[in-house]
Parts: sequence; structure tokens; C-alpha cells
Amino acid sequence: MNLMRNLLIRTKTFAKTLSTAGKMDDMSAFRISYNPKEPMDIDNLPSKDPMELFDLWFKEISSSEEVREPNAMTLATCNRKCEPSARMVLLKGYDSAGFRFFTDYDGRKGQELAENSNVALVLYWRPFHRQVRVEGTTEKLSPEECDQYFHSRPHGSQLAASASNQSTILPSYQVLIDKYAQLQEQYPTDSDVVPRPQNWGGYLVKPKAIEFWEGHTNRLHRRLLFSREKPEDEHVKAGLNGWHYCVLSP
Ligand SMILES: Cc1cc2nc3c(=O)[nH]c(=O)nc-3n(C[C@H](O)[C@H](O)[C@H](O)COP(=O)(O)O)c2cc1C
Repeated sequence: MNLMRNLLIRTKTFAKTLSTAGKMDDMSAFRISYNPKEPMDIDNLPSKDPMELFDLWFKEISSSEEVREPNAMTLATCNRKCEPSARMVLLKGYDSAGFRFFTDYDGRKGQELAENSNVALVLYWRPFHRQVRVEGTTEKLSPEECDQYFHSRPHGSQLAASASNQSTILPSYQVLIDKYAQLQEQYPTDSDVVPRPQNWGGYLVKPKAIEFWEGHTNRLHRRLLFSREKPEDEHVKAGLNGWHYCVLSP
């Protein structure tokens, strides 16, 4: 009797869970308080150049074991009709010129970039309650730089890049596996040089604006915007190397 009663209660609870799953009001349970360990001193910045500031944040975050893939970022592109699309890519380098990533030039993002070079990047490091937003334009990296990075990748990744025509429709997944196996036969060992496909390479994102965001208690987040163009406001300050900066309301 007890067994039947328990079963009935469990079935009802499960049905209730299913019927409310995904509703807006259930999302209230997902609320965390932001409280960074080392808050950014917005009035006393360690650097007034955003690339140097990015370098400080990135080094701090990548030396922590809490963030496993600190270089994962969202890349948003737009086609010529201004329809946006976004996906994750890996940041593979940065310096005063900008941010670098690698991909297939003929894939969807590559085609969109050929039509419209404007992009946005977002990096988010959850344990640090930090976000960096970048807006800028892209240009292709030199073939030499692409070759150098391509051949630094693991052998299997080089084969996969050669086997894949990114974003095209596959007749079946097996077709990709067969193509990979065929390339594996052609270039069996790590010392075999896999030629870089001409449609595989990198981009430099040249930033026009970089925003640093840090989550704080009671949603009193700190936002620092660096821009190449000077916003018309008396509170905008001069940064280094042609940058301007200001504090934004959260
Ligand atoms: C964490 C992560 C990192 C990724 N890194 C890359 C990358 O560096 N380059 C790339 O082409 N795709 C990368 N991808 C796959 C892309 O998100 C995407 O599926 C692929 O590039 C095709 O995008 P497209 O059709 O818009 O061109 C990554 C995906 C994830 C989840």
C-alpha cells in the first residue's frame, strides 16, 4: 500500500516538474551574487591602455585552475543584410594590434566576414565575475602566420581541418570519418607535413572599443569602456596609445 502511495507521489512530482520546466518563473532560482576576489580599482587603474589591462586580466585568470579554457570566446559576425550570428572560437593570441583566432575562411563566419568585416567578441570568466567585450574590424593574417600556427597544432587537428569543409552540409558523418581516415593514410605520422588548406587561416580583430565588466554585490557592477573614438562627454578621460576611457553605469 505504502509502495503504491510513494509511486503515486513521485509520478505527480515528476509530472509537475515537467509541466513547469522552462517557464520564466522557474528561472528565479538561478541567481548568484557577484563578489570578485580582487576587485578592479576603477579610480586607480594599473594601466590606461586596454590591451595592457586585458593582458593583466588574462594572465591572472589563466594562471588560476578555476578557468579551464580562459581563451574561449564568443565571436559575433553579421552578413551583408546585417543579420547577426554568433559562435564560440578560441583566442590564439593578442598584442597591441588586436586579438587573433583561426578558422575556415569558407565557413559561415568566413563568408560573413568577407561581406562585413565588423565583429564583436565576448569573453566571460565566471569564477572571476568578469567579462570583456570587444568591437572592431577584422583582417586576414598573413599566410606565413597561418602556416606557422597550423603546423603548431596537433597532427590530428591538422588532419581534421583538412578533412572538413566547415559549415557545409555532410551527406553523413561517416563521409567525414572516411575522409579523415584517407588523410591519415596519406600522412600517417606526426612528422609528416600536412599542407595547410588554403581556405584555413586566421584573423586579426582590430579593436575600436573594449569594455571591462566586473560583477559586484547588489548588481552594482563596474564597467570601464575604452574607445578609439572619443565620446562627447566631459567625464571621458585620456588613456594611453590613442585610447579614451570612461566609466559606464551598470
Ligand atoms: C569552446 C569552443 C571553441 C571553438 N573554437 C573554434 C575555433 O577556434 N575556430 C573555429 O573555427 N571553430 C571553433 N569552434 C566551433 C565554432 O563554435 C563553430 O561551430 C564553427 O566555427 C562553425 O561556425 P560557422 O558555421 O559560424 O562558421 C569552437 C567551439 C567551441 C564550443
